[in-house]
Amino acid sequence: MNSLSQRGDRKSFDVVVIGSGLAGLTFCLTLIARRPHTRIALVSKQALSDSNSYWAQGGIAAAAGVDDSVQQHLVDTLAAGDGLVSPLAAKAILSQSLSYIAFLQQQGVVFDQNDQSLPDLAKEGGHSKRRIFHAGDHTGRAMIDALIPHIQQQSNIYLFESHMAVKLLRQKDRPSEDISGVYVLDTKSGLIDTFLCNVVVLATGGAGKTYRYTTNPDIATGDGVAMAYRAGVPISNMEFYQFHPTLLYQRNYPNFLISEAIRGEGAYLRLPETGERFMRRYAPKQMELATRDIVARAIFTETEHSNDQYVYLDITHKSKAFLKQHFPTINDTLMRLGIDMSQDMIPVVPAAHYMCGGVLTDISGRTQANRLYAIGEVACTGLHGANRLASNSLLEAGVMATNAAEDCLVWLDQPLSHEQMSAGWDSGGVTDLRRASQINAHWRGLRGEMTSYAGIVRTEAGLKDLHQLILLRQQMVEEYYWQHVVTQDLLELRNIILVAELIVRSALQRCESRGGHYREDYPNKADNTKRTLLRQAPR
Ligand code: SIN
Repeated sequence: MNSLSQRGDRKSFDVVVIGSGLAGLTFCLTLIARRPHTRIALVSKQALSDSNSYWAQGGIAAAAGVDDSVQQHLVDTLAAGDGLVSPLAAKAILSQSLSYIAFLQQQGVVFDQNDQSLPDLAKEGGHSKRRIFHAGDHTGRAMIDALIPHIQQQSNIYLFESHMAVKLLRQKDRPSEDISGVYVLDTKSGLIDTFLCNVVVLATGGAGKTYRYTTNPDIATGDGVAMAYRAGVPISNMEFYQFHPTLLYQRNYPNFLISEAIRGEGAYLRLPETGERFMRRYAPKQMELATRDIVARAIFTETEHSNDQYVYLDITHKSKAFLKQHFPTINDTLMRLGIDMSQDMIPVVPAAHYMCGGVLTDISGRTQANRLYAIGEVACTGLHGANRLASNSLLEAGVMATNAAEDCLVWLDQPLSHEQMSAGWDSGGVTDLRRASQINAHWRGLRGEMTSYAGIVRTEAGLKDLHQLILLRQQMVEEYYWQHVVTQDLLELRNIILVAELIVRSALQRCESRGGHYREDYPNKADNTKRTLLRQAPR
């Protein structure tokens, strides 16, 4: 029995891809190029371009400089990941970086070049070399805008915008219970369709909306992790939520990132009252270009111990012309808000940015369930360890998608028979008792609690209190789910609460401080280089 929403259509495809960011789009194009007759459903919660990837500013890392190498990129990745990076996975992904950049260029992505027509490689925190390919400060937008027209030209890619995946389906007549489809809510009609297929690909991105401040768009609600966990698939390293040090602090202005590339070009972090460059006290060598965990924690500590809500990012020592040329999007946005960054300092706060953990996979996105792949931010390959190195995420998304498109052929060659599958979503009598205001209240409450108790600094007492609060909310929201019409906001809330619970449980298990996970009661690193793993029996 499912909750009270009307059953829609039953549709069959070879592959269902959930999510239209860089990973989802790359997967579709690579698979279609490899096997043109494959029928792919591409499911996107809003419009195709509404993804986390679209918002990416900085760029995509690849060792292309004459003084650089995959080995050096690996050394930096291992250092940022603070003992938890899987060297094999990392080496394999980083080795594919230049071939993925070439793929993007073939699709029409234009990266910035210098006066010698060579890639204009930028620098970001934790990188010992300049190695960030970028398109101004809107690299994500440039990539997605280039890929979408190719997707739209393909008659075998069926687009389902304004559709949200609800639940993964398993083939009960097989001992291995392969994943064989997904229930999908048409958010416009409110009907729940049954999509049957031979392979499901989760490319749903992260879950920044778990926290009060985030650099992510509203769609980042951890849907893939939540669905995979409910289906009994192992989830790993959820305690390592990465906070980006510099979200613009502005009342009533949503989630605007100030790219790390600005610190790469020499910006300082200063205290509002004294103007002190406080990073001197936290990372005297690397200063503002220390890894994100160190910089975010320094800002948190400074604001906790003062009355300030934010710190300043200061790039006033660069000319207006330089800033306009290198950071056009940031410059325009700030100018609209009355901040001229060549003269004014920018108020910033740390914000939830990237889920380093996720569905446990290999570098081809294989999960532990047959026919289920997870690619990009939703996945945990071991590349990021305890703290992701800047601009390794778009790279991982693209490389995994490329690998998954090849790997899944083995399942496409063994199609499932869907005759045994249930008739579809089991709808009861529909009574629309939607509780929008309660849903909002839960959401606001949860995000505040997560920020206070499971944010940049954690303690056992706080995490335990928070766990109780989450379980209470979870119980209420499960009741809404089973008793009321399923809507996108209810599904997202249900997912985010589960993701929050996984973060808190993982954080409680890790009694040490490492990378993005800082426990005030265990401030040092212990000898714990094991992954955190959570798994439940399928529901
Ligand atoms: C940024 O531009 O600061 C974000 C890049 C990243 O998250 O890797």
